[in-house]
Amino acid sequence: MRPSFNVRGTVQLPGDKSISHRYAMLAGIAEGPSRLENYSTGADCASTLACMRALGVRWQCTNGVIEIEGRGLALAPPIQPLDCGNSGSTMRMLSGIVAGQKFVSEMIGDESLSRRPMQRVITPLSQMGATIGSREGKPPLRITGAALNAIDYKMPVASAQVKSCILFASLYAHGETRVEESLRTRDHTEVALRAFGAQLEQGAIDSGHEIRIRGGQRLRGIEGRIPGDLSSAAFFLCAAALFPNSQLTLPNLLMNPTRARLLDILMQIGLRISVTQLDQIHGEIVGSIQVEGGKLRGITISGLDSAALIDELPVLAAIAPYTEQGVEIRDAKELRVKESDRIAAVARNLQRMGAQVEEREDGLNIPGGQALHGAELESFSDHRIAMAFAVAALRARGETLIRGAESAAISYPTFFQTLEQVAER
Ligand code: S3P
Repeated sequence: MRPSFNVRGTVQLPGDKSISHRYAMLAGIAEGPSRLENYSTGADCASTLACMRALGVRWQCTNGVIEIEGRGLALAPPIQPLDCGNSGSTMRMLSGIVAGQKFVSEMIGDESLSRRPMQRVITPLSQMGATIGSREGKPPLRITGAALNAIDYKMPVASAQVKSCILFASLYAHGETRVEESLRTRDHTEVALRAFGAQLEQGAIDSGHEIRIRGGQRLRGIEGRIPGDLSSAAFFLCAAALFPNSQLTLPNLLMNPTRARLLDILMQIGLRISVTQLDQIHGEIVGSIQVEGGKLRGITISGLDSAALIDELPVLAAIAPYTEQGVEIRDAKELRVKESDRIAAVARNLQRMGAQVEEREDGLNIPGGQALHGAELESFSDHRIAMAFAVAALRARGETLIRGAESAAISYPTFFQTLEQVAER
């Protein structure tokens, strides 16, 4: 990446990754056809579609539109292991669906996914009646489906993937399942289940938030456009934040309140953001945003915010040295078990660019007012690290080389071309 002096233009984001996974899975177990426009172009969401095909779901992609023939709740036994590639979302959420089938499924992943914790889905699914073999709580998983029982489950970790896994399994369970979370995570599964015709109740309780859902509900297919990915937009928003004269428009962007905390934080650090054309598609809020750069102030991110911004923390950390007061990130231990150890990855790369960084067990403290220089960096085979440091490189002195930058394709194959188009030199 070469340095830039401004970020300007319009970026149409590919469909949100979280919603794409959920729609592909729910469309497969719904009755009737679904038609999904702007499905995520990332390799992770292709892994979900490939797994659904291996489970007997027929789908085709024509001019970027995915048409899926739902087969109802009962899927077909796969003849090969279900390959989830790099995608934790695929493995964790789909495990809830295969746990309710009348067959055995093997789920495998790449090297990074094979190191990631799966006990968090094994525990609730085993309580519901599935039998799951693993390599000490890590992939590969061997899931023997069963007639499941409903559970009342208090989530020990804040994870939307785990919550979604249980909610998907609950469709196959006898009785009413209740999930309780003390930190509210993204609610796309709840919103999507309603869009596909399921009924569920949710609300605030003293200790957080609860969801109740009855088993045996039938789903019906949907037609619609998937909103632009807000976590991918974060890279362009942070790029714009680096330069006071930036002007960027992002149409059709996901604005779900459980994801949009990012926009508040960016406004706090100095971006000017206006939202127009608010709309709702299948219960998800969508809008167009216009942003202008300003002064880059510092911030502390902790508690609920760290959970809500978990995917955006790497890029917020990558621009931290350029802020006036610096950025402190706390309560973000989950970053250590993502596609890479994102706390260590961010610290290593920032240090290579000449920054002073304090790495902590659950976060980072990055002083502001630092000038960085271009350097040879690692992506650690992690899409969000590759993209975060392409952004940091825009304001560094000299060129930056990111090894393994192609891993951006996990969520955003055309990221670098688009960044080149909006970065002015
Ligand atoms: C996701 C939830 C988060 C996030 C991931 C997508 C989802 O993971 O990091 O990129 O779509 O539910 P956790 O559930 O592990 O927090």
